[in-house]
Amino acid sequence: MVQIFLDTASLSEIEEFTKWGIADGVTTNQKIFLSEGGVDFKKRVMDICNLVNGPVSVETTKSTVPELIVEGREYASWHGNVVVKVAMFGDGRGLQVVNQLARSGIKTNMTVMMTYNQLMLAAKAGATYVSLFYNRSKESGEDPVQIIRDYVATAKEQGIPAKLIVGSIRTPEDVATAMAAGAHVMTIPSKILRQMPFSKRSEETIAEFDKAWQDFLAAAKARPV
Ligand code: E4P
Repeated sequence: MVQIFLDTASLSEIEEFTKWGIADGVTTNQKIFLSEGGVDFKKRVMDICNLVNGPVSVETTKSTVPELIVEGREYASWHGNVVVKVAMFGDGRGLQVVNQLARSGIKTNMTVMMTYNQLMLAAKAGATYVSLFYNRSKESGEDPVQIIRDYVATAKEQGIPAKLIVGSIRTPEDVATAMAAGAHVMTIPSKILRQMPFSKRSEETIAEFDKAWQDFLAAAKARPV
């Protein structure tokens, strides 16, 4: 079954969707933390990890391979739920970081990927998760739906363990399309998740059935004993 991760660092949003019973994990990045204002980074990561019974992706921010490895090891030491996010830099340095972290048993999520080739390289390097940025990939002229289908098929055929996370979601329709294409994991912003249970026709149908029930109760009450 597809997994759903929450693309947020907000504790109240995580609590909200945990109650729905649909949250399998959390993904964060620098922009998501910026939208939380001046929170204490480590404390917030720990709080998220303690709220979620699943993987919590925390993104590295440094530039060089040694710095990224130190940063990744540090985040991984904070909590067993932490998955270290590493960007797919164009010169391959992120792959080196993922490989080193994976060799020392640290779970990684290779991120900001737009193409099938990037996903395959990340999987080869030992990433636990490979993240495709659905809308940013589309904006760069790629076909993210085909990439999802191709990666999922290759992973199945070749026994590749890296799970595909699809992020950069802008609409409920993006979620439906990516899930139907076979994404292993969808990471979804709260604004989009809140729209997903809604259909105008469902609301109309609920109102129609409510009215019928009131009419039934009235008829039952009026029936001579
Ligand atoms: C998730 O891992 C990504 O960081 C996130 O979905 C990116 O989304 P954006 O394209 O809206 O920044």
